[in-house]
Amino acid sequence: ISELGGSLVYGMSDGLIGRSWAMLFASGGFKVKLYDIEQQQITNALESIRKEMKSLEQSGSLKGSLGAEQQLSLISGCGNLAEAVEGAMHIQECVPENLELKKKIFAQLDRIVDDQVILSSSSSCLLPSKLFTGLAHVKQCIVAHPVNPPYYVPLVELVPHPETAPATMDRTYALMKKIRQTPVRVLKEIDGFVLNRLQYAIISEAWRLVEEGIVSPNDLDLVMSDGLGMRYAFIGPLETMHLNAEGMVSYCDRYSEGMKRVLKTFGPVPEFSGDTVEKVNQDMCMKVPDDPEHLAARRHWRDDCLMQLSKLKHQMQPQ
Ligand code: NAI
Repeated sequence: ISELGGSLVYGMSDGLIGRSWAMLFASGGFKVKLYDIEQQQITNALESIRKEMKSLEQSGSLKGSLGAEQQLSLISGCGNLAEAVEGAMHIQECVPENLELKKKIFAQLDRIVDDQVILSSSSSCLLPSKLFTGLAHVKQCIVAHPVNPPYYVPLVELVPHPETAPATMDRTYALMKKIRQTPVRVLKEIDGFVLNRLQYAIISEAWRLVEEGIVSPNDLDLVMSDGLGMRYAFIGPLETMHLNAEGMVSYCDRYSEGMKRVLKTFGPVPEFSGDTVEKVNQDMCMKVPDDPEHLAARRHWRDDCLMQLSKLKHQMQPQ
């Protein structure tokens, strides 16, 4: 459908990552073929994508310049792997996070693909050197890690294997831009990539502060959602430093001693067990009971908020 040819999502799930990729690629005008080991998963996914695209169109939130019907006509299911990948320019693997399973699938793909197609994994924490080492097509392999829910949170971390060709990184980067996601290049693989390393640093200090009785779990979350998070939706921590003084150099001059003093008081890695789990769980369950209905309703609300935020971010182009 586009000058870039067909695109393809391989391995998918009803409601999660594979489905989101399918919708995103279709929003960019790409032809998408869904392959799953469970035929029923494909049927379910096609149905739920239809429902979701229609409802996004009604609320004016459908991505891309094509209408829902046009986008839906680009997505089809395919029960045979070789047929699914034929003519594809990009294969996005989204099977469960299991190293042996993913390795098996990439070995299968390695035997049937040409020298052009990109083999991309959605893995959130498996290192490319674990996933792709030894493949004949390793130069064409990359991790493209999305953030849940990918339709509203545009970041995609691109993580190369040491032998990934620069052209593979560049082509994947361009593809992500084309579907209006926000790719970032992780220059060298590292455990946790970048997003989860930042996330774990925050979780870790949050946990220690609650464990030490400095702040309640609910108030801790407010510090992020009504404090730091407000600006982090628009500018990152480094730009925050730059703006909070007369530029970065002045920020470091003024605040580095204080930052280092505080940072030296950070404790060890928490155990995430025992009394603190109960204490945090109690506060969380008062806000959102942990039965499937309440959790689903709250996730739905979160996704609505993210959808509105992504509209706002779109309007608020940087000056
Ligand atoms: P999921 O378990 O919902 O879906 C996996 C799909 O793979 C299922 O439809 C299953 O039938 C299919 N499958 C299993 N074995 C297969 C095989 N041998 N061949 C073809 N298909 C097969 O998983 P989910 O949550 O969508 O995650 C997929 C990947 O995306 C994982 O690597 C995960 O780490 C990553 N990811 C997940 C995020 C999340 O928040 N759920 C966020 C970012 C990345």
